[in-house]
Amino acid sequence: MLHLEHSWSWLAVMVGVLLGARPSACRDLSGSRPNILLLMADDFGIGDIGCYGNNSIRTPNIDRLAEDGVMLTQHIAAASVCTPSRAAFLTGRYPLRSGMVSSNGYRVLQWTGVSGGLPTNETTFAKILKDRGYATGLIGKWHLGLNCESSNDHCHHPLNHGFDHFYGMPFSMMGDCIHWELSEKRAGMEHKLNVCFQIMAFAALTLTAGKLTHLTSGSWTPVVWSTIAATLLFVTSYSIGVLIVHADCFLMRNHTITEQPMHFQRTTSLILKEVSSFVQSSAGRARTGCTGITRKRWTGWWILDTLDMEGLTNSTLVYFTSDHGGSLEAQLGKEQYGGWNGIYKGGKGMGGWEGGIRVPGIFRWPGVLQAGRVIHEPTSLMDVFPTVVQLGGGEVPQDRVTDGRDLLPLLLGTAQHSDHEFLLHYCENFLHAARWRQRDGGRLWKVHYMTPLFHPEGAGACYGRGVCPCSGDQVAHHNPPLLFDLSRDPSEAHALTPDTEPSFYHVMDTVARAVEEHRRTLIPVPLQLDTLGNIWRPWLQPCCGQFPLCWCDREGDPR
Ligand SMILES: *[C@@H]1O[C@H](CO)[C@@H](O)[C@H](O)[C@H]1NC(C)=O
Ligand SMILES: *[C@@H]1O[C@H](CO)[C@@H](O)[C@H](O)[C@H]1NC(C)=O
Ligand SMILES: *[C@@H]1O[C@H](CO)[C@@H](O)[C@H](O)[C@H]1NC(C)=O
Ligand SMILES: *[C@@H]1O[C@H](CO)[C@@H](O)[C@H](O)[C@H]1NC(C)=O
Repeated sequence: MLHLEHSWSWLAVMVGVLLGARPSACRDLSGSRPNILLLMADDFGIGDIGCYGNNSIRTPNIDRLAEDGVMLTQHIAAASVCTPSRAAFLTGRYPLRSGMVSSNGYRVLQWTGVSGGLPTNETTFAKILKDRGYATGLIGKWHLGLNCESSNDHCHHPLNHGFDHFYGMPFSMMGDCIHWELSEKRAGMEHKLNVCFQIMAFAALTLTAGKLTHLTSGSWTPVVWSTIAATLLFVTSYSIGVLIVHADCFLMRNHTITEQPMHFQRTTSLILKEVSSFVQSSAGRARTGCTGITRKRWTGWWILDTLDMEGLTNSTLVYFTSDHGGSLEAQLGKEQYGGWNGIYKGGKGMGGWEGGIRVPGIFRWPGVLQAGRVIHEPTSLMDVFPTVVQLGGGEVPQDRVTDGRDLLPLLLGTAQHSDHEFLLHYCENFLHAARWRQRDGGRLWKVHYMTPLFHPEGAGACYGRGVCPCSGDQVAHHNPPLLFDLSRDPSEAHALTPDTEPSFYHVMDTVARAVEEHRRTLIPVPLQLDTLGNIWRPWLQPCCGQFPLCWCDREGDPR
C-alpha cells in the first residue's frame, strides 16, 4: 500500500482535466461529447503496475481502472523524457515538428528562466476543445516553457495554450526544495554547476600556470590573486545557481505564483484538492460535503471518487498514462527509486529502448467501452489528440501534419488494427529507432540505428550524467542496424542478423522507406531546446519577491 501511495503521488504531477459542455439541466449523458479526464503520471514505469504484470506490488486502483476499461499494452511515448513527450501528447505531433527538441544535448527545458517553450502557433487539444465549449483545466506539471521576453509575459503558459484554468508547476517536480532533499532533477542541475566549476578551475589553473612561468622574474602575488579571483567567481556563480534551483521550485495558479519554494509534502494533496474542486465547479454544482475529507483519503483515486459523487462517471472518458518510463539512474545509495520498467530494456532518456517509451495506457468510459478489453496493437500517446478532438466535436487541424491517429475504432473494437504501421523513436532530433507492425504475419519489428552506451558498460544505465546522451561518443551507431522481433522478444535481448532472420533485409528496406517518407513531411522549425532557447536569463526568472529573494506562501495549510 505504501508503494501505491508513492505511485499516486507521482501521478499527481500532471493531471490534465477537460470537462464537458458547460452545465445545463438536461445533458445527454452517455452519448457523444463526454467529459474528459486525462491523468498523466511522471516517470512512472510500466513494471510498477499490477495489471501490467507486476505480481508483487499492489496497485488496486489502476488495476480497477483497467478492469472497467480498455488496456493498451503497446502504448508508446513519442520521447523518453518529459518536455518532448508532453509536447507531442498535447499537439499530436512528433516533438521535432513543433521544435520541442534540441540538436545539441539538451534533453528537456533546463530552467524556468529560459525563452524556449511550446510555440504559440502550435494547437493543443485543449485549444480546440475550448473552442467547442469545453471548460479546460490543467493541474500538475507543465514543463513546456513559460516566458519569452520578460519574467511575466507568460507566452508559453498553459492559459496561452487553450487551458482556462491552471494550477501546478510550470516547470518540474524538484523534490523537497525546503529541506534540500536530493532529487534527480537537482542532482542534474548540480552536475551542471559542477561542470561550470571545473571550467573555472581549469581557467584559474591555466592562468596560474601562465603566471608561474614568469615566477623566476616575478613574485607569488599574481598567483594568489588569480586563485582568489577564481574562487570568488566560483562561489558567486555557484550560489546564484543554487538560488535559481530554489526559485524554480514553485506553484502557480493561473498567472500568480502561490508558493515559492513549494512545500513538497503538501503538493500532492493541494493538487488533488484542486482537481476535485475544478471538477465540481465545472459541473456547475456547489461544493458540497467534500470539505471534511481527511488527508488519508487523498489519493489519486479520490479524483475518480469525485466523478462518482458528482454523478459524472458514465459521462466521462478517463485516461491514464505516464509521460515516459521509469528512470534507472535515479538512485540514492543502493536504492533505486526511479521506477521499474518490467521486462523492457532501458528506461527514461535511453533513446529508443522499449523501457523508456512503453508506458501504461488505460481508457475507461462505462457503457461505451467494453470493460476488460486488452489491446496489443501499437498505439501512441499522440493518438489522444485526434481522439479527444473528435469526441469533443472538434476538427484536427488540416494545415499541418498530425502524427496521432483516432483511437476510437480500436477502443470500440470496430477496427482490429492500429493505424500505426510504423512508429518512430526519436532522441532529441536524432532518429534512434523505428518499429514496424507487419500486417501480414503479425510480427513486430524494431530497428535501432543508434543506441546509448550504458555506462559503466553492462550496468544498464548512464550513471553520473543524470540521463543518457542522444549523440556523440556515448552513443553507438549500428550499421547494419540492430533488429529485434518484439512479438517474440519484447525484452530486446536477441538481436537478429541476416543469418538468423531471413527477412532481415526486407525489414530494413521497408523501414528505411517509411523513414524516408516521414522525412519528406518534416519542415525545419526553430529548435526551442537548443542552447539559445535553453540558457538561463535573469530577466526571465519568475520570482514572487525581488530575485534572488523569492519567497512567498499564499496557499496556507490545506489541512
Ligand atoms: C514489481 O515491482 C517491484 C518494485 O518496483 C520490482 O522490484 C519487482 O521486480 C516487480 N515485479 C515484477 C514481476 O515485475
Ligand atoms: C483562471 O483564469 C480564468 C480566466 O482566464 C478564470 O475563469 C478562472 O476562474 C481562473 N482560475 C482561478 C483559480 O483563479
Ligand atoms: C453506468 O454504466 C454502467 C455500465 O453500462 C451501468 O451498469 C450503470 O448502471 C450506469 N450508472 C448510471 C448511474 O447510469
Ligand atoms: C510556427 O512558427 C514557426 C516560425 O517561428 C514556423 O517555422 C512554423 O512552421 C510554424 N508552425 C505552424 C504549425 O504553423
